[in-house]
Amino acid sequence: MATAPHETAARPTRAWVLHPDLGHARTTRREPEHALAEAVALAEALPAIEVIGGEVVRLRDPHPGHLFGTGKLAELKTHLEEGEIELVLVDGPVTPVQQRNLEKEWGVKLLDRTGLILEIFADRARTREGVLQVELAALSYQRTRLVRAWTHLERQRGGFGFVGGPGETQLEADRRAIDDQVVRLRRQLDRVVRTRTLHRTARAKVPYPIVALAGYTNAGKSTLFNRLTGAEVMAKDMLFATLDPTMRAIRLPGAASDGGGRKVILSDTVGFISDLPTELVAAFRATLEEVLEADLILHVRDIAHPETEAQSADVKAILTSLGVEEDVPLIEVWNKIDMLDPAEREAIETTDARRPGVVAVSALEGTGMERLVAAVTDGLAASLGGALTEAEVTLPFADGRGRAWLHEAGVVLEERTGEDAVHLRVRWTDRQKAAFEARESG
Ligand code: GTP
Repeated sequence: MATAPHETAARPTRAWVLHPDLGHARTTRREPEHALAEAVALAEALPAIEVIGGEVVRLRDPHPGHLFGTGKLAELKTHLEEGEIELVLVDGPVTPVQQRNLEKEWGVKLLDRTGLILEIFADRARTREGVLQVELAALSYQRTRLVRAWTHLERQRGGFGFVGGPGETQLEADRRAIDDQVVRLRRQLDRVVRTRTLHRTARAKVPYPIVALAGYTNAGKSTLFNRLTGAEVMAKDMLFATLDPTMRAIRLPGAASDGGGRKVILSDTVGFISDLPTELVAAFRATLEEVLEADLILHVRDIAHPETEAQSADVKAILTSLGVEEDVPLIEVWNKIDMLDPAEREAIETTDARRPGVVAVSALEGTGMERLVAAVTDGLAASLGGALTEAEVTLPFADGRGRAWLHEAGVVLEERTGEDAVHLRVRWTDRQKAAFEARESG
């Protein structure tokens, strides 16, 4: 029987995080301590979990049956018992067999990194497509480990599957049932994607350029988005607070002659992480398409993070793999300068001031916003302005909407009223032209 997990979990589940460190066989550049901190932060993003603590466990040779060596196994068992730990999160891959053995040995529930990220995706997915993509990923994950209880199937939506709940029946779930479900989900997904394409066509008719916020998880995208739009999105110390993009139109300040006064769409996107399990890439990508359509990308960085360079490299690699074209202008927003010590902050603010394409801000304090907005205005002018062409548009009197569209987009240079039509001289970008034509045909 399915029960809403949030109703049953009155008290958060006590969790312990283990980051296995493979030493020389490490596949990431990250320091194990930072990787552990990131895993803890990921787990804390789930409301039903209380992270009691975590540790790095050196692992020279992962044991095929129970991952950790016998001595470590016993040591951890005592430790977990003393801490009354109910859930162990292993920040790495755990085979189904290892998982079952460890759960039995320690008397806990266990989730590996993929399972944890899936839970977070499920908790955060807000659009229909996001939910379906996450369910699909969860099913594929579950299919590979029918020995365990992934209870995602049994809940209606979002939230928690592994704490308490009717896990045992899942053990009996057979592959066919999962495959049927996958087929159903795929069909639904196809439909959703088709509708989304329609929405996108509708949006293409909006005459405003799109500015997308991208960046590593917890970099401060949502906080900045709120700053810039004055809207309450969801700025919490929660990783993945934004699985699905949020968009809002804002008007840039300044005079039209300087490219100001322009309306733009600001789009917040899901945070990037390193070592995203491959089976989750599609679900993650589905949430990032806004970035592909952007006229300008703001790459938000937590400049106070000890691994800010590695994070930035990850984000760039992901952007490239998404197929973001090199000619899309990008501004690096160095956020959280309030967390630097004063000397460092000053150094960054002065160097940064001389470097094009970089703006130092504190989204929390609201410092640097004017420079950022100016950089956005310039960036858009450069990105859109280069391709401006003039054209003559003739509209029948009846097309008051078309005329309003052109004025709203701010592209009208001159307007003449003829005998039976209005003649407008416009200066616009190819995108605006295409949007206007799409509007006409639509
Ligand atoms: P994801 O949704 O995980 O991708 O996160 P995000 O990039 O949207 O980050 P978010 O805006 O949720 O901020 C993460 C945390 O950083 C929150 O606790 C914010 O309050 C904090 N934060 C954001 N900007 C600043 C800043 O300029 N200074 C400081 N000190 N903290 C900040």
